[in-house]
Amino acid sequence: MSELVKICPASDIAENSAKSFEVGDAIIAVYNLGGTFYATDNECTHGAASLADGILEDDIIECSLHFGSFNIKTGAAVQAPCFTPLRTYKVVVQDGHVCVNLEQTAAD
Ligand code: FES
Repeated sequence: MSELVKICPASDIAENSAKSFEVGDAIIAVYNLGGTFYATDNECTHGAASLADGILEDDIIECSLHFGSFNIKTGAAVQAPCFTPLRTYKVVVQDGHVCVNLEQTAAD
């Protein structure tokens, strides 16, 4: 799946919030940070928690289960008990829709 996958209209994700989406076999979290979109795996690397249900503050998502956190731009784990980084995905907005490339990271 090397091409962009259309996820949703950009207007479906309110500013400074996140939503989860099933894309093929993956479940990803898409974040709207002040009108710029980012995507990561939705499952916390510490346990079975949905990061889209966490608290987004600036570029940090805090997991609602044990309050570990990650940088949504880089996937870096920035607060214990999270130590394993999150996978990030390349996001572009095309024709008003958020699109994700599951084969590329945010840094590609
Ligand atoms: S499951 Fe996310 S911090 Fe523990």
